[in-house]
Amino acid sequence: MCGIVGYIGDKDAQGYLMTALHRLEYRGYDSAGIVTIDDGTPTVHRAKGKVAELEALTNENPAKGPLGIGHTRWATHGVPSETNAHPQKAGDIYLVHNGIIENYRDLKAELKDHTFVSETDTEVLAALIDSFYDEETSLADAVIQALQIAVGTYGIAVASARNPDEIVAARLGSPLIVGLSEGETYIASDASALVGYTDQAVYLKDGEVVVCRRDGIEVFDLASRPVSPRVETIEADLQSIQKQGYDHFLLKEIIEQPQTLRSTLNGRVDVADNLIKLGGLNMTDDELRGIEHVTIIGCGTAYYAGQLASYYLEQIVDGLTIDVAIASELRYRSFHLPKNTVALVVSQSGETADTLACLREIKKRGVKTLGIINAVGSTIAREVDGGIYVHAGPEISVASTKAFTSQVSAMIMFGITLAQARGINNEDISNYIRELDQLPGEIERVITNYQNEIPSIAKKYESYDHALFFGRDTLYPVALEGALKLKEISYIQAEGYAAGELKHGPIALIDDSFFEVALLLDNWLFDKTLSSLSEVNARGGHIFAITNSKQNIDAETVLHVDTNLHVLAPLVLNVVQQLFAYHIAVARGNDVDQPRNLAKSVTVE
Ligand code: F6R
Repeated sequence: MCGIVGYIGDKDAQGYLMTALHRLEYRGYDSAGIVTIDDGTPTVHRAKGKVAELEALTNENPAKGPLGIGHTRWATHGVPSETNAHPQKAGDIYLVHNGIIENYRDLKAELKDHTFVSETDTEVLAALIDSFYDEETSLADAVIQALQIAVGTYGIAVASARNPDEIVAARLGSPLIVGLSEGETYIASDASALVGYTDQAVYLKDGEVVVCRRDGIEVFDLASRPVSPRVETIEADLQSIQKQGYDHFLLKEIIEQPQTLRSTLNGRVDVADNLIKLGGLNMTDDELRGIEHVTIIGCGTAYYAGQLASYYLEQIVDGLTIDVAIASELRYRSFHLPKNTVALVVSQSGETADTLACLREIKKRGVKTLGIINAVGSTIAREVDGGIYVHAGPEISVASTKAFTSQVSAMIMFGITLAQARGINNEDISNYIRELDQLPGEIERVITNYQNEIPSIAKKYESYDHALFFGRDTLYPVALEGALKLKEISYIQAEGYAAGELKHGPIALIDDSFFEVALLLDNWLFDKTLSSLSEVNARGGHIFAITNSKQNIDAETVLHVDTNLHVLAPLVLNVVQQLFAYHIAVARGNDVDQPRNLAKSVTVE
């Protein structure tokens, strides 16, 4: 949420700052700004709207200077506007900030020497830093003194015209990475902004402050004690963060699922030996055998992935109890976890503030935590006791798609690992292993077979105002995920329901402003779901049924999805839903990669 970039080196900073802001735009896109400093002279450009608006300004009036910081914003305090855009200025200080300063009102009341012009908490932090920044105090010391008083979360970069040789950056609860190269130092809140510039990076830890110079960095803690930074290699490549000819990142990320899922499964699914092999759990077979309860936490799509996985885990491991919780809820509850629990912490970005806070609450209770994470090196990935990286590659479009498929598959592999540790090796487990192995190919086949048909179905439903998704058993979480995908990119109000629940309330909604997406599997619940369809039809519904069954279905539109899979067919039907939502959003003329009001990676509560 929000993107931070910075550069100090031997070139004009503006070029890097603008490229990097474009790459980080998916993290917030309501306003953007940069400041560059040239021999003590600052130039500021800020604009409401997307980075392209800022770029128009910088093209018209290029800013010189080998030092600069920049920001793309997702508003928390104050409307999107040029005045509220970052960098915020106070005295000699320019500040870009992700996160929230919770005690900004109290601080503002005390900072009487500064005339506040924005509505932001960031300007308050800038003024606080400036209040300490005098002839005797270095920029880094002024930042540290301010951060000792500020309460809240932050990733920040600070520049001053009085100090053309340093940028100071710091983090607490909001990611920040420093990229190192010969004669140049970069700052970014996301590794994708460093790709192609350097692969050598230091991931700041909470409570660390870094002084960035052309020739390197120094890291301190908040008590000004030096800290030895650990330099790591970033593995992402330029291709993985580019659209590669697709109209949108979302389409690319849906279509590339066969490959990204293969990366999730490679080396882990061994069909020949009927085995799942997971490294990284950091648990012995004895410990795995001892697990009696699994708690899964996540937000949004990651939460729905957890819900779907819970159905699978209880089928795979006899006797295992499972609960799935929304991280933003669980973190504030007086929750108790049974003995011998393991918590699965699911997050694409590995930075979601509520999920991270929930992880810390769980750890306080002495419970073992495992991450189901996509972003390598992210905060959650660092704080869990072990886990499974899903290796789906960078997900740039705000709506999560490929991560869902990989997260569910990773959790199924975890379930099979638990079963293996218990010595369970029955035909059901072999079937799961076989279907996992076939899943990428089946998704590929479905995309190839139906990608021309789905846009015309989407056209049929594009102008409805409301949608109801329903399914039973494993298709219930898939319905929830389908509704979430549709609402966030098409802005059609969409609800997901368990099919059996329709008659307990939501069926009252059905009228001509609604269409319904019915999900059906060719299994023991098929006829029961058909009854739900009949009830909706009887009330004038407009049903689009998605099924792997070949049987006749009474619905306005039916897509019979030809797949060889059974237990994992829900993941294939979900890909159909993803394409359906995508094409509706395109037909409605929406910005599908950067839907209104949203941002990728929600690093504020
Ligand atoms: C939905 C979506 C969000 C995320 C949620 C959790 O398409 O993208 O609901 O799934 O914000 O994000 P992560 O997985 O990064 O923790």
